[in-house]
Amino acid sequence: SRLAVVVVAAGSGTRLNGGAPKAFVPLGEHSILHHALRGVFAGPSAQVVIVVPAGYENAARAAVATAGGHDVTVSVVTGGASRQGSVAAGLAALDDGVDIVLVHDAARALTPPVVFERVFDAVAAGAAAAIPTVPVVDTIKRVDVAGHVVGGVDRSELAAAQTPQGFRRSVLAAAVAAATADHTDDASVVASAGHTVVTVEGDALSFKITTAPDLERARALVAPHAA
Ligand code: CTP
Ligand code: MG
Repeated sequence: SRLAVVVVAAGSGTRLNGGAPKAFVPLGEHSILHHALRGVFAGPSAQVVIVVPAGYENAARAAVATAGGHDVTVSVVTGGASRQGSVAAGLAALDDGVDIVLVHDAARALTPPVVFERVFDAVAAGAAAAIPTVPVVDTIKRVDVAGHVVGGVDRSELAAAQTPQGFRRSVLAAAVAAATADHTDDASVVASAGHTVVTVEGDALSFKITTAPDLERARALVAPHAA
């Protein structure tokens, strides 16, 4: 199989409000994108497509260099107004021979390389789609518009979805082309098209940097003498 990893890094980071588009906000000595790329480059060998905001193409190439991507085939493309649009822009840059695609949020900057391996292995073994998940630890309540608890949800039926999400290329391309509704992740697009999505074990370190406290947590984890 030939693999491509599409790293979506074109968001503005409104909730983080870090003074630059989120992927270009500093995380220790380097950017969030640099750290995300280190994980990608340490995973299975792949064409890497990085999707960035207009004007950040050269900054992305600089992050490729510091993250050690010298021997990797890297394409940098400009993203869209929505995450789905950015994914579509990334898919348009895939090499001809690619038959498996992983879509990864740059904001999940500390995702361990083994998670890329697990997702890739599941699709290489025949799954149309595979996503990493972690168990939901909190007790979940169903709440009405008035804020009253109206029931519980069986936690054993729930899982929190992470990235990278992996797909047979033909499946993802067709589902993205056919998608009309808004979807919160790529697996939802593919599930809407009728495909089965399998799960593999995710990792707590794959948390998404969304708010300032998330960035603080990530900074502590990459600090030179982090415990
Ligand atoms: N993303 C993207 N293009 C967009 C929107 C999001 O490539 N138009 C990417 C982000 O760069 C991020 C991932 O999708 O790596 C997950 O999105 P999110 O965490 O929501 O990032 P932002 O949209 O940048 O943040 P916010 O929603 O707070 O503005
Ligand atoms: Mg967003």
